[in-house]
Amino acid sequence: MPSDAPHPNATPPRGAPIPPRTVVLSGATGNLGPVVAERFAAEGCTLVLPVYDRADEVRTAFPDAYVLEADLLDADDAARVADRARAEVGPVDTVLNVAGGFAAGSALELTPKALRAQLDINLVTAATLSTAFLPDLVEAGRGHVVGVSAGAARGTAKLPAYAASKAALEAYLRSVAAEVGPRGVDVATLVVEGTLDTPANREAMPDADRSAWIAPLAVADGLWFLATRSAGGRVAELRVGA
Ligand SMILES: NC(=O)c1ccc[n+]([C@@H]2O[C@H](COP(=O)([O-])OP(=O)(O)OC[C@H]3O[C@@H](n4cnc5c(N)ncnc54)[C@H](OP(=O)(O)O)[C@@H]3O)[C@@H](O)[C@H]2O)c1
Repeated sequence: MPSDAPHPNATPPRGAPIPPRTVVLSGATGNLGPVVAERFAAEGCTLVLPVYDRADEVRTAFPDAYVLEADLLDADDAARVADRARAEVGPVDTVLNVAGGFAAGSALELTPKALRAQLDINLVTAATLSTAFLPDLVEAGRGHVVGVSAGAARGTAKLPAYAASKAALEAYLRSVAAEVGPRGVDVATLVVEGTLDTPANREAMPDADRSAWIAPLAVADGLWFLATRSAGGRVAELRVGA
């Protein structure tokens, strides 16, 4: 490539449209996932949505998306998603790991089972989906992988398993970035610095002060920002708060 040619993963100049992406997004049946899916669909992205169950519900909500049933704790399921996306949709350039889960409880009563469950839902789902798509991204020499963590990962009372699993997710993403970043793949973490203002949280905490809750759309905007950085200006971590 001539030295003055734009990098293939380059962000277009300010004001120029960003070419639509082909995006695989986990967590589309959750609270945040649909908001992210809508945000990326509005940018003209093609969506591949692996969902654990309720595929029909997601197909109705996102009729243009390619919806597949997959348990992201199962590497064979994730590989099947990658194979079918490649064959039936085309090359995926963006992996958005939004699936995750929350559990609270005292460290004095933490069981291995509860700890493993949080590691599974917050770390293993992201690693399994990312692993399925990383070879294609590395071969293409471009693409984005993003995960969603939480401010609690710094260490939070009564959240030992959740905090540990999100801290593990962050370390995993930094490790992947160190390996594949030099090969053109941008890996980033979005850290949600508090509680999302979702219907589920409103129902679970009806009396809470919501003034510091975070708008899901702000997180979706942050994911779009991270997924559209270029090799010349990567952002490894974005912290979104109220
Ligand atoms: N909500 C908050 O206040 C908050 C704060 C900080 C960070 N976050 C993070 O933001 C992300 C989204 O949060 P949320 O509130 O939207 O969570 P949510 O409503 O609990 O949704 C979690 C999603 O993950 C999916 N999932 C879980 N295990 C899976 C598996 N094995 N295979 C495939 N999919 C699986 C769920 O699928 P099913 O519906 O089929 O179970 C669901 O779509 C998570 O990573 C969460 O930790 C949330």
